[in-house]
Amino acid sequence: MTAMVEYETKSVAETEAVAAGLARALGPGSVIALEGNLGAGKTQFVRGLSVGLGGNARSVSSPTYVLLNIYDGGRMPLYHLDAYRVTGAQDFEAIGFEELLEQGGVVVVEWASRVAELLPAETIWVEIEATGETSRRIRIEPEIPGMLKRE
Ligand SMILES: Nc1ncnc2c1ncn2[C@@H]1O[C@H](COP(=O)(O)OP(=O)(O)OP(=O)(O)O)[C@@H](O)[C@H]1O
Ligand SMILES: [Mg+2]
Repeated sequence: MTAMVEYETKSVAETEAVAAGLARALGPGSVIALEGNLGAGKTQFVRGLSVGLGGNARSVSSPTYVLLNIYDGGRMPLYHLDAYRVTGAQDFEAIGFEELLEQGGVVVVEWASRVAELLPAETIWVEIEATGETSRRIRIEPEIPGMLKRE
């Protein structure tokens, strides 16, 4: 059984703060799988990851059409992928997903369950659920040592 940690955020800033806290606790080669409906806040969460790594939030945008964005400003590169429009794992394999896992950066995937077969067993799963117009429930599994339980 793995421990899970749950947050309740009331604003975009709070969601970004949870993500930044996670990013600060990550080592090279970490993989984060983001789940949640359209507009849940997955891309906002990636902004927070970028900030937590010491990079820039403003450069983060949805990679829906290009599949992969790379942010280099922080202490490790952040590889941001979106599987929303992929037809299958072969689309990710074609852009070199398996090589990305070995670059010593952090890999984050929106709509990750669509390419679940490619994700390592150590993947950190983050599920974001809208509980109101500006509130979200964020579940992170497993819990990462060094991450604050509550912001
Ligand atoms: N507490 C919150 N946390 C995150 N986003 C929030 C929150 N409250 C409101 N929002 C809004 O929800 C939206 C989240 O959009 P975002 O692009 O991050 O969603 P997404 O999950 O990436 O969607 P998609 O599946 O289309 O990629 C933004 O418009 C943001 O302002
Ligand atoms: Mg998105």
